[in-house]
Amino acid sequence: MTIGIHPASISRATAPAAATGSARFEIRPFDAPLGAEIVGLDLAEPLSAEDFARIHRAHLDYHVVVLRDQRITPAQQIAFSRRFGPLQIHVLHQFQLANHPEILIVSNVLKDGKPIGLGDAGHFWHSDLSYKEKPSLGSLLHARELPAEGGDTLFANMHLAWETLPAHLKAKVDGLKAEHTYLAKYAELQQRSPWRPNLTPEQIAQVAPVLQPVVRTHPETGRRALFVSEHFTTRIAGLPEDESRDLLAQLFAHSVKPEHIYRHAWQEHDLVFWDNRSLLHLAAGCPQAMRRVMYRTTIEGDLPV
Ligand code: SIN
Repeated sequence: MTIGIHPASISRATAPAAATGSARFEIRPFDAPLGAEIVGLDLAEPLSAEDFARIHRAHLDYHVVVLRDQRITPAQQIAFSRRFGPLQIHVLHQFQLANHPEILIVSNVLKDGKPIGLGDAGHFWHSDLSYKEKPSLGSLLHARELPAEGGDTLFANMHLAWETLPAHLKAKVDGLKAEHTYLAKYAELQQRSPWRPNLTPEQIAQVAPVLQPVVRTHPETGRRALFVSEHFTTRIAGLPEDESRDLLAQLFAHSVKPEHIYRHAWQEHDLVFWDNRSLLHLAAGCPQAMRRVMYRTTIEGDLPV
């Protein structure tokens, strides 16, 4: 599965704009609408409260932090993720890592003809678990096996999307709520690929639709952000169906304009930590013949307001 997005229309991480780190590790912002890399940190070593606070601050400031060269175990990924909040277990328990239910395997690999992980995670723009009453604060994705070609992840800055939204659209959507549902594109994805098992009644009950504000306020920074996505948002509450569809289409198109996007080209052992309260993301896909194996942990956030 490869998604055709013109690379020239999307910002790539380039040379760092500035180095703001101390001798211990450096935080280097990307020349892009979001994102920074953290270099010289080893999460296999104990992390001081001061270093944790610097990472936390960078996460709030840049929305994506790329922790380079993390040769960590699943248990170390879980322990680091837990420092930001309780972890959420994905409804597709079929793709949990053995003995580590907190880790969702994101992979296109088939073993004996069966998927070892969720191969089409991120096929549509989304914010993780926005279909839960308490969506995710942030997700951490660790590169375990990377394809020689493709496999990039794109991030869209939803604060910028809100701030640059035309005034008439801002006035129209502010204060509205929209429905988010895990099942919105499930049947379509199921038809397209082998990665979507039939859901049990228990799994369906875990992902009942929820209403979320169309514009949310980040609980830690106070910045406002658009909070709708093509994957999970199905309708705006209180509007006629055609008006809701038209408005959502305008919001989706505006959110993912090239000037809001950072495209992450993965390096070996990257641990990428993004803020689901500030961003949407999308997996660009890679040739099916090439293996891609990633481990994801997902941190629970607040009730969006
Ligand atoms: C995801 O949406 O969590 C997966 C992103 C990716 O595989 O690049």
